[in-house]
Amino acid sequence: MSIASVLVLSGPNLALLGTREPAVYGTETLSDHVARVEGILAPEGIAVASEQTDSESRMVQAIHEARGVHGALIINAGAFTHYAWSVHDALRSFPAPIIEVHLSNPAAREPFRHVSVLAPVVAGSVAGFGSLGYELAARAVLALVR
Ligand code: DQA
Repeated sequence: MSIASVLVLSGPNLALLGTREPAVYGTETLSDHVARVEGILAPEGIAVASEQTDSESRMVQAIHEARGVHGALIINAGAFTHYAWSVHDALRSFPAPIIEVHLSNPAAREPFRHVSVLAPVVAGSVAGFGSLGYELAARAVLALVR
């Protein structure tokens, strides 16, 4: 199986990457992370679309719109990860591989970050490796769609 495109979907506050808590999230911007995904998938003939939203409603809509359009989803839902059951439900209905990414390692941080309500509905999660996590997610997509 081959796919034509992947969506990199990013949640609240991730537009601030580069300047947001650099000791936790690094100094690369969201565009830099998306470029890393493109660097791995473009040579394979897979286009990369990206969207960032601070809105839970928009994130649910974006997942709906991705159905039948994108052959995989790489999602860093930011804080929605820890409580947004609407995003969990939307992902349940996404009919292709989903990779969850976190720059930091939420399990090693505050207790409220220890739960991912998305983890039960994704193929797998990559956390704690900074920008390398996006590359690993792109490689996971290749492994899952081949
Ligand atoms: C994050 C971890 C979340 O706990 C946090 O709310 C974020 C970023 C990460 O990439 O490490 O916004 O998803």
